[in-house]
Amino acid sequence: MSAFAAAESRPAPDAIAVELVAAHKTYPNGTQALLPMDLAVREGEFLTLLGPSGCGKSTLLHLMAGLQAPSGGAVRLWGRRVAEIEASGHRLSFVFQDATLMPWARVDANVRLPLDLAGVARPEADARVRAALQGVGLARFAGHRPRELSGGMQMRVSIARGLVTEPTLLLMDEPFGALDEITRQRLDGDLAELWRARRLTVVFVTHSIFEAVALSTRVVVMAARPGRVVEQHVIDEPYPRGPDFRVSTRFAEHARVLQDALLRASAGEDDDGGGAPA
Ligand SMILES: Nc1ncnc2c1ncn2[C@@H]1O[C@H](COP(=O)(O)OP(=O)(O)O)[C@@H](O)[C@H]1O
Ligand SMILES: [Mg+2]
Repeated sequence: MSAFAAAESRPAPDAIAVELVAAHKTYPNGTQALLPMDLAVREGEFLTLLGPSGCGKSTLLHLMAGLQAPSGGAVRLWGRRVAEIEASGHRLSFVFQDATLMPWARVDANVRLPLDLAGVARPEADARVRAALQGVGLARFAGHRPRELSGGMQMRVSIARGLVTEPTLLLMDEPFGALDEITRQRLDGDLAELWRARRLTVVFVTHSIFEAVALSTRVVVMAARPGRVVEQHVIDEPYPRGPDFRVSTRFAEHARVLQDALLRASAGEDDDGGGAPA
């Protein structure tokens, strides 16, 4: 009986959380932001989209979230159309590059916003806000205004707001890009912990090779003009990936693979980066 219960309570190992089938995007002005692509993100993966500015990372994430419609092809979440995700018993949250907090509202009210919008009653909502703030280490700052917090703390508030609805899929668009290196490393570590503890599926966007190696189970390398996937790289390393891992030989080997992929991907592009001899 116990074996059966355990099997039921765990997700099937190969359940596909996000699937793109020949999905592509051309904006009305003619920009080919994404060529047709097939991609499957398995439940529980920490998948990172890595590539230079303009390669379509945000566009791809927006297609997954239903913030943009594909020009063709299909996007599915747990086998359903994006708008029908709730019927699958799953929820997604999107964390933007900026914290985008309401400056006049307290931290707890900012985090409660998605619950207020969903009509969750106050006592229940307050309890979930407290838990979400605790999860990002900000329990003591519930009564503060955003401007009283550092940039890193504001991003934590934004992540707490993303977690308060208890999503199973977290889509994050360069969430730590504006932070200093050490703050970023700390938030990377905290995020990896949350991902593991809650068995989230994460799709994470960055242009940092190092952040990709520190966080991901798999990295999809993209190139621009037109936007497309050029390579994939699995990072089969144990977690937690602490400060020692970041200066290890293994880390450097993964970073080199990703760097080579990015260099190959940009080799055909214009040369104002200084590649060609005079
Ligand atoms: N709303 C839009 N209308 C027209 N072009 C867009 C729009 N959004 C993005 N683009 C273009 O699509 C390409 C991919 O953009 P984006 O997905 O934002 O890339 P990334 O996030 O990797 O920097 C870029 O050339 C960008 O200028
Ligand atoms: Mg972007």
